[in-house]
Amino acid sequence: MAPKIFITGGTGYVGGSVLDAIVEAHPEYEVTALLRKIPDDFSSRYPGVKIVQGDYDSADILSQAASEAEVVVHNGDSDHEPAINALICGLLERPTPGFLIHLSGTGIVSDYHSKTYLGKQNPKIWSDIDDYASISSLPDNAPHRNTEKILNAAIAEHGDKINIAIMCPPDIYGRGRGLGKSVSAYVPIFLKEVKELGRVFYYGEGTNTRSYVHIDDLLELYLKVVEAAVAGGEGAEWGSNGYYFASTQEHNQICVSTIVGRILRKYGVVGNEEPVEVTLQQLDAMFQIPKYPGLSRYLFGANSRTRADRAKKLFGYQAKAPGLMETLGSDIKDVLCMEEMRSF
Ligand SMILES: NC(=O)c1ccc[n+]([C@@H]2O[C@H](COP(=O)([O-])OP(=O)(O)OC[C@H]3O[C@@H](n4cnc5c(N)ncnc54)[C@H](OP(=O)(O)O)[C@@H]3O)[C@@H](O)[C@H]2O)c1
Repeated sequence: MAPKIFITGGTGYVGGSVLDAIVEAHPEYEVTALLRKIPDDFSSRYPGVKIVQGDYDSADILSQAASEAEVVVHNGDSDHEPAINALICGLLERPTPGFLIHLSGTGIVSDYHSKTYLGKQNPKIWSDIDDYASISSLPDNAPHRNTEKILNAAIAEHGDKINIAIMCPPDIYGRGRGLGKSVSAYVPIFLKEVKELGRVFYYGEGTNTRSYVHIDDLLELYLKVVEAAVAGGEGAEWGSNGYYFASTQEHNQICVSTIVGRILRKYGVVGNEEPVEVTLQQLDAMFQIPKYPGLSRYLFGANSRTRADRAKKLFGYQAKAPGLMETLGSDIKDVLCMEEMRSF
């Protein structure tokens, strides 16, 4: 019988890319996608994918679909608690243990809540193996901690019935492969702030450092974990060993700003390509979303340094796709084209 996969977030940057990668690599899998709005071209692009219409608050729909799948790949909103609870409930109804592969993010280990390393490099690099105990007991205000706590509780209580993997990518770059959103989050947000300020920028010393991964490298990792799940879990690790960072490189803010400045000057977006230092007040006034207080410190002033030790140990994971610095030009062009199309 064909392995049954249930995937969410299939119109998003990560989820759409993961859906595309799974369907392309494994046309033999029976894939069901949860979609809240069905894109016109979805069925022509993915004729073999069954659609379930609903959103993350459709608990019954999520539970039912999860109970019918061997493998649930949950993307889209890493913080949505009802969706995780519904998927766990559904998987618990299965007669045999199922698999839940959940998308989280390395915001969870960012140091943006403290001023100690704001604008400076924090020497701490988190390992998904050596630091797992600390990661699984981070304070409640760490991003994505709310859903990871639910998953940790499910691992403790139902580890024999559900095999859980938490995929924890850093900032992702590169063009997405799905038919929904094809640009990642960081570049559009950074460009918006640069346009408002008229210059690329940094805070403090600008040596605050973050990890990055190309979407294509991340997809290779996803495929390995999904394939292991389909094989009954063999070859990957699950539960309290199933935590996967995915970073392949890191860069500090001043280096990113320097490259972005050069590219934006070439495109005529800024007149002066040199990065300029912003004050804390200016930084805090940027990109405010009530749900995520301090987001601009997290994005532009803080550190989030991670090492994909587990993926390296299990799969020999390493960067194959082009690095961030080589990809920024095309990512920026994609965002500028998208903005231009929107203005028509
Ligand atoms: N992009 C990154 O660099 C990155 C890195 C690490 C972690 N993450 C985390 O990964 C998650 C996804 O990121 P992304 O960049 O892929 O986001 P995205 O492109 O905005 O995609 C979000 C997806 O989730 C769906 N969705 C959102 N809320 C939903 C709801 N209530 N019900 C049903 N579907 C819903 C969207 O559907 P519609 O098309 O219908 O809106 C879309 O398919 C986020 O939580 C983010 O924090 C992202």
